Amino acid sequence: MKRLKSGIKGMDRMIDGGFPEGTVNLLKGPTGSAKTLFGLQFIQGGIREGEKGLLLSLEESRKNIQRAVESFSLDWKPYETGRSYLIDYGEIRRGDLENSLISFRELQEFLNNFLTDEKIHRLVIDSISAISLYYTTPEKLRKNLFEFSRFLKEKDVVSLLISESDNSRLNVEGFVSDSVINLYYEDFEGEFRRSVKITKMRFTKHDPYKHPFLIMDGGIDISVEETLR
Ligand SMILES: Nc1ncnc2c1ncn2[C@@H]1O[C@H](COP(=O)(O)OP(=O)(O)OP(=O)(O)O)[C@@H](O)[C@H]1O
Ligand SMILES: [Mg+2]
Repeated sequence: MKRLKSGIKGMDRMIDGGFPEGTVNLLKGPTGSAKTLFGLQFIQGGIREGEKGLLLSLEESRKNIQRAVESFSLDWKPYETGRSYLIDYGEIRRGDLENSLISFRELQEFLNNFLTDEKIHRLVIDSISAISLYYTTPEKLRKNLFEFSRFLKEKDVVSLLISESDNSRLNVEGFVSDSVINLYYEDFEGEFRRSVKITKMRFTKHDPYKHPFLIMDGGIDISVEETLR
């Protein structure tokens, strides 16, 4: 089975070498837990392998993400030269759509041609939490997320769907994704620590433990040797 290197130090050891191809992966965590950074490193890891990435931002402007990229000492150039893409989805919506909520169907329509035409290998959606507001019941949300996930699996991409873990509306999403990666940002006796734990990963064995990580120059660095309770 083909695997895609995660681009995150320590992560590939946790997932037996990398993300299985064609999978939809869910990345959950509270604010400040480094979800966006994880997504950026995932794209960057692809660039090193000659793969094209797309980071679709639903919340942050391109300018703010550029600032983040530079603050983590990641490479911004690939996003300027077309080796990868960083799209502020709010910017490309026009007219009265501008203030309305985004649905999975709308996103699918946009991605359908883009992923194929640009031969995208890796997709990050940051985040899907805002989309959940479009749906009035958990059933509708689940049905549409399921369809969206099916669509992504049919495309030849590995996707990373980012979700705010404090958002209880989205507790349905684990069902439709092939994997669930949890990021934590918690108080340990007065000191805030970040950590990561995988609770599900189809088609591969994975490390079940919770490991701390630091944000270093260049990004997330997971201490796979160290385990938290
Ligand atoms: N150069 C740096 N070195 C170390 N830490 C940094 C650096 N730049 C930013 N940070 C920290 O990295 C954290 C992770 O940010 P990130 O934006 O990835 O979190 P997030 O989970 O996406 O948050 P949100 O839910 O608000 O979008 C920031 O909260 C900030 O404290
Ligand atoms: Mg973020």
